[in-house]
Parts: sequence; structure tokens; C-alpha cells
Amino acid sequence: MRRKVIAGNWKMNMTPTEAVELVETLKDGVKTDSADVIFCVPAIDIVPVAKAIEGTNIKLGAQNMYYEPKGAYTGEISAAMLVDAGVQYIVIGHSERRQYFNETDDIVNRKVKAAIANGLQPILCCGESLQQRESGVTISFIEEQINAAFAGLTKDEASQIIIAYEPIWAIGTGKVATSEQAQEVCKSIRDLIATLYGRELADEITILYGGSVNAGNAAELFAMPDIDGGLVGGASLKPEFVQIVNY
Ligand code: PGA
Repeated sequence: MRRKVIAGNWKMNMTPTEAVELVETLKDGVKTDSADVIFCVPAIDIVPVAKAIEGTNIKLGAQNMYYEPKGAYTGEISAAMLVDAGVQYIVIGHSERRQYFNETDDIVNRKVKAAIANGLQPILCCGESLQQRESGVTISFIEEQINAAFAGLTKDEASQIIIAYEPIWAIGTGKVATSEQAQEVCKSIRDLIATLYGRELADEITILYGGSVNAGNAAELFAMPDIDGGLVGGASLKPEFVQIVNY
């Protein structure tokens, strides 16, 4: 039985002061036994948020890390630093990082490996552009991204990964994928995991949908058989996040 996961991706929002206020606003409402609730916060918010979520069910995620263990990489943060600060999850391969910060499939693969080696659970993002969807290459493109991200991983390592399917055209646009579109891709991802690692792992692995998830569409999306929850951007900063967690 797969557990529901609802992860908020705060992106580049919330100063440390605002971050603590937001946790205070949401923490009682997101208290639930039926889902894992993760806040993926900006790096500078990690330490104050780690303190603010003490005694709650909220788990802490980061949005970026570098794959090297330490050294002369000015401005970067390692997996071990995140773990030491209380982080359990790390978003890797988000389309915004692929697009604006040149995060290639190879970099994604290195980050996934470094995260797992340090005990962080990757929330691995994949997703097609509108042009790719319209030209009918969605499934083959997603398969390429997944194959590259999982390259060289053992079954044990692969089992640590949460996959998030996020069509680029649905992110921050208010244009949500239909539950059928989201289900189709999430099922194809699960089938690919079965091909790579066997049906047992495919049945266990968590696959989320992301892209304009809100309180109005969450229930229908999360009811689909291969969608185990959501990666929520804009709505994770609002009181409606409570409704999404408790849909
Ligand atoms: P959105 O973002 O919910 O604001 O569309 C989702 C994401 O990018 O993770």
C-alpha cells in the first residue's frame, strides 16, 4: 500500500521570518496520519523551519544541492550539510532548474546519487513542454528523463526515490493537466520502473503529480490509481494547502 505524499515546493518565496510565520499558520491544519507532508523550503529557511516544525508531522525538504561532497564550490550546499540541518528530502531536476540553471540529465543523475548516498530522499522531477506534448513525444521524452536520472542505480537506491511528474505547461499557469492526462503519464513511469527494476518496486514507488494543483482539483487528481499525491507550488504558500493535504 503506497502512502500519500503531499509536498509543498515554496520555490524562491518566504524570508526566514515569513517562513516561520507560514509554518505557524499551517502546522495544525496539516496534521494527519494519512499522508507524509513535506515542506521544500529555500536554503536560508532550512534552519528556522527545522526548529519551527519540531513536534509536528511536517518533514523538511530542500530545493537544491550540489553533488560534490565539499570543497571550492562557492555558493553551493552539499547533501551532508542538508542532512545535518535536518533535511530529509531534496527536489532534483525541477523544470525551472533545468531551464534557468542548466541542470542537465547528467547533473540530475549525479545529484540523485549524491543525495541517496547521504540518506536524502530525492523528489525527482520530470515533465514535458507544451511543444513536446503537442508533437506527441511526451511519453518517450519522460522515459528519457527517467532513464537518465536512474542510470547506474541499484534497486535499493532506486527505492529511495519519489518521482514527480510535472508537465511544464501546467506549472504556475493555472492550466492543470486533466486527471486522465496525469494518470496516463504516471502509469507509463510506473511501467518503466517495472521494466528497469521489476514490478515489486514499481508497485511501491511513490509517483506525484505537480502543476497547478489546488484545493479544487487535488481530490480528482489524487484519486487516480497511479498518482500518489502532489508536488504543490503556488498553493503550498496559502491556507488552501491544508485542504489539499486533507482532501
Ligand atoms: P505550481 O508549481 O503548483 O505553482 O504549478 C508546481 C511545481 O513547480 O512544483
